[in-house]
Amino acid sequence: MFVAGCDVGSLSAKAVIMKDENIIASHVIFARPEPAESARTVMEGALNKACLTMEDISYCVGTGYGRNSISFAQAAESEIACHGKGAQWLKPQVRMVIDIGGQDAKAIRIDETGRVLRYAYNDRCASGTGRFLEVMAGSMGIELNDMGEVSSQAKNPVSLSNQCVVFAETEIISLINAGRDLSDIVGGLHKALSHRVASLARSIELESEITMTGGVAKNQGMFKSLQEALGVKLVCMDTDPQIIGAVGAALMARQAAAENG
Ligand SMILES: Nc1ncnc2c1ncn2[C@@H]1O[C@H](COP(=O)(O)OP(=O)(O)OP(=O)(O)O)[C@@H](O)[C@H]1O
Ligand SMILES: [Mg+2]
Repeated sequence: MFVAGCDVGSLSAKAVIMKDENIIASHVIFARPEPAESARTVMEGALNKACLTMEDISYCVGTGYGRNSISFAQAAESEIACHGKGAQWLKPQVRMVIDIGGQDAKAIRIDETGRVLRYAYNDRCASGTGRFLEVMAGSMGIELNDMGEVSSQAKNPVSLSNQCVVFAETEIISLINAGRDLSDIVGGLHKALSHRVASLARSIELESEITMTGGVAKNQGMFKSLQEALGVKLVCMDTDPQIIGAVGAALMARQAAAENG
């Protein structure tokens, strides 16, 4: 039996197809203006990789900001529940998940079954999200993919005085003009974002086994910087951290399919 999870986020859409205990295909695309189109396109991508069609999928659960626009999903679940479920299934020891996406950051405490116990999120201000790094990468002319590598050369990360993305962007440009090393600027950006996310996580009390999910976890500089801000060694996902919400949705689909016979 094949099941699927589809996570339509604000910046990217992710689809995962599972058979029994295995992830057999996954696909990630940049989100389209219409969530329904993102959902269709990303699911087609995953189905093509698995050499399947939608008729082969017994049950699909949708999640993410666009979860109610996924016409082929039989159910919708919150992104918080899906990140908790997916992370715990992949790394059973994990009791806290920090998901930094494009539009918000979430800290989620879970039990040994992946059930959510407590959570906190910030969706009020871009300065605590992946969008902050995207805007800054754009102003510095650095690819998002390269941010981790660039920050690894930082010797003396800058300390930013502005939280607001608009003012921080101006500050970055002044720092570049003043001849500061790009690596120190990127290191400073990671530090600023990590401290904001770490205080969000502390607001629900830290656990010792913490992992990071969402697209920002692909950035090794942010991964290390968040570890330092939390004072905890993070559990590293062997699976692409960006698809963890879709994995959780696929696991919920598997459970629902089993319950519905
Ligand atoms: N290859 C990459 N290297 C570094 N950072 C990346 C990479 N790909 C994505 N990102 C970061 O991940 C963010 C998007 O994360 P993700 O795909 O989890 O967001 P989303 O699920 O669409 O958003 P949300 O959950 O807030 O609705 C981008 O803002 C960017 O900062
Ligand atoms: Mg997301």
